[in-house]
Amino acid sequence: MCSYCGCRALPEIAALNEQHDQIVNASGDLRRATDAGTDGVAPLADLVRLLAQHLDREERGLFTELRHHDDIRAHVDELCDEHDELQMMLTDIGDRQDADPVAVGRLVTFLRRHIDREENGLFPAAAISMDGAEWDAIAARID
Ligand SMILES: [Fe+2]
Ligand SMILES: [Fe+2]
Repeated sequence: MCSYCGCRALPEIAALNEQHDQIVNASGDLRRATDAGTDGVAPLADLVRLLAQHLDREERGLFTELRHHDDIRAHVDELCDEHDELQMMLTDIGDRQDADPVAVGRLVTFLRRHIDREENGLFPAAAISMDGAEWDAIAARID
């Protein structure tokens, strides 16, 4: 999580960071289950649910507003492509009879890198680029 710029003081950033923590915890549960060869169905379902809620919130709220900023739009597009990639990786894992520990490890690494790009790149950029009216617009869109 970004510790430098104060972006965590913004309610929407705080909410997204909290969802990140839940997603990282759920991905850890899935990884431990698959590494141990135990049933990964429940942790996979948790991760799929949490991630779907989170990606929807980001894309309907913060990302939509940031697309109005010419200097940030390309970064948002890249992160949206990563959302698609994450969902494809999860679908592939869920399609197998037994969750593949290698595929789960790849997913967890990709997920952590994606979250790092948001918390230490996009979110601080949003904090310095957007005004109060834009944060209000996000809040109205995700309620
Ligand atoms: Fe994201
Ligand atoms: Fe995120």
